[in-house]
Amino acid sequence: MTIVLAQSECGSEVVDQKPKSPSENAFLAPEINSFGHSFRNYDAESERQKSVEEFYRLNHINQTYDFVKKMREEYGKLEKVEMSIWECCELLNEVVDDSDPDLDEPQIQHLLQTAEAIRKDYPNEDWLHLTALIHDLGKVLLLPSFGALPQWAVVGDTHPLGCAFDKSIVHHKYFKENVDNNNPAYNTKYGVYSHGCGLDSVVISWGHDDYMYLVAKENGTTLPPAGLFIVRYHSFYSLHKEGAYEYLMNEEDVENLKWLKIFNKYDLYSKSKVLIDVEKVKPYYQSLIDKYFPSKLKW
Ligand SMILES: [Fe+2]
Ligand SMILES: [Fe+2]
Repeated sequence: MTIVLAQSECGSEVVDQKPKSPSENAFLAPEINSFGHSFRNYDAESERQKSVEEFYRLNHINQTYDFVKKMREEYGKLEKVEMSIWECCELLNEVVDDSDPDLDEPQIQHLLQTAEAIRKDYPNEDWLHLTALIHDLGKVLLLPSFGALPQWAVVGDTHPLGCAFDKSIVHHKYFKENVDNNNPAYNTKYGVYSHGCGLDSVVISWGHDDYMYLVAKENGTTLPPAGLFIVRYHSFYSLHKEGAYEYLMNEEDVENLKWLKIFNKYDLYSKSKVLIDVEKVKPYYQSLIDKYFPSKLKW
């Protein structure tokens, strides 16, 4: 999540392979979210604004380079649960994302709405449909069987650690209280990184994105690199929305970012009141799961 996305910006994020005409079944972004407000609108009318700001205060203070290293090590062991992708989709219904001002439907609806909207516009990219289905599964980190992590360690926008916090990051002022902000090893433009080092080697704040990336990768998914890139960086708004940190990207990242920008339009704007018939679409998504994942995964 990030702050204030003007409605006029909707669509400007699509870089290529855009449907030719908006008339032919193309995905039309709804004007309002399920609360009747414009998307990602955190202004005074939004009753959630204060809790979102408090969420980012905690996020920006507690997400440090050392914290992320520790979490990656702990969760990288994948010894919490064994289950299939679809079982996780159903499990995710028990989760509520406090940081999201646009979403008041069960999470499986958000997954399927995103996936179905992309499927309509990109019918041949089956990997992208599945990527949409799984992109938020890491939110199970909020559940007791996954350690019941606090919201600030699971959801919200993500950003790099180990280098200076870019001004474009939402509620930037709260980084003042982050210990990394005063550490000369971490508070310069490049910090521990070098020009064009590639996002793969960059430590990103811990949350559902990085966790699901680890799960998918360690369980041997055959999703293409662009799919894994989307899963891992879909909340990295300062990069894909503001263009910050581009100097850390390598050529492969630049290519993958095009797909992420396409995906992001659907992730944001498919949150609406049009409910998907889960049982009707399940066989299609199960066939994709069978194609790209083992039947049981370690989480
Ligand atoms: Fe997400
Ligand atoms: Fe999402």
